[in-house]
Amino acid sequence: MNALQPTLETNRLKSLPKAEVHLHLEGSFDADVIVQWAKLEGVALPRPAEDLFKFSGLPDFLEFLDLACGLASTTDRLVQLSYGLSQRLADSGTGYADVIFNPTHWHAWHGRFGAMLEAIDAGFTQAEQDGLPRVGLCVSLLRTQSAAAATELVDTLIAMRHPRIVALSVDGNEATAGRTGPRFAQAFRQAGAAGLRRTVHAGESSGPEGVWDAVDVLGADRIDHGVRAIEDSALVRMLADRQIPLGICPTSNLVLNVYPSIQEHPIEQLRLAGVRVSVNTDDPALLNATLVGEYALCRQAFGWTDAVTKAVARTSIEASFANEDIKATLLRALASW
Ligand code: ADE
Ligand code: ZN
Repeated sequence: MNALQPTLETNRLKSLPKAEVHLHLEGSFDADVIVQWAKLEGVALPRPAEDLFKFSGLPDFLEFLDLACGLASTTDRLVQLSYGLSQRLADSGTGYADVIFNPTHWHAWHGRFGAMLEAIDAGFTQAEQDGLPRVGLCVSLLRTQSAAAATELVDTLIAMRHPRIVALSVDGNEATAGRTGPRFAQAFRQAGAAGLRRTVHAGESSGPEGVWDAVDVLGADRIDHGVRAIEDSALVRMLADRQIPLGICPTSNLVLNVYPSIQEHPIEQLRLAGVRVSVNTDDPALLNATLVGEYALCRQAFGWTDAVTKAVARTSIEASFANEDIKATLLRALASW
């Protein structure tokens, strides 16, 4: 391969107008920041710095999130993280992002949700004022929370009506939590009735049954991951018929051992079956993923042409919870890419 080709490809994909609909604030810590903050706080790290982001799978990864987020104990640190995430979006030419933020991981802020939200919002607002992309927040429940905790969070969100918040989300490990769709049904119903959008992690640590519940029980507008829907042909047909988009994260699924190789990843089968798919980074810093890299990976593995690449980018914009002005601007730019 000509040494120039990767750079040309990277630059072209950076210029592709697109949104990102599945990434977590929890996944935006750079290793050197964690090392520095851990030293200041006197917190021991589980592994040497060079192996810090070597995860054995989702349980180990989620445990690490508690440690990393626990270090972000001040307003300045939250501002630094949210601003840094916006910078990362701009580095991939992302025009808008829905960012998931799960309060349970951030121990220093428990009981101070409002103050925490203001700090995160300040970082994103500063970023936008500096010309970085607009971000909407999807506030997330953890799969292991109770029904009461879920409705309490939703009550808070509804009372606040904060302009930064666009959706209710649920993430975490379904393999350990078991079937929890019914437990969260009321919270999701309330959120939907109040005008919040709904996005649900399913079909990553759960099989097709998790995706069915996300749609039938939680009323998901969008599924985060959803890839294991491929194991149930009736589910694939339903997702395609109802045009429910999947926010797919190929590198995350490889690093966290959902699939052994990109060749065995079902994104292309799902796309060809008529399911609306977008590509995303999930936890970009911790999993060493960039949005440009995700597009490049799929183009290389599945032979995506420019037309397919544009169609996936279009889905990312249409599936996002951006306002209509932002969507229209991005779609216009995409048409002339
Ligand atoms: N929280 C952050 N990343 C996640 C993932 N890939 N699955 C579930 N919960 C998460
Ligand atoms: Zn995720």
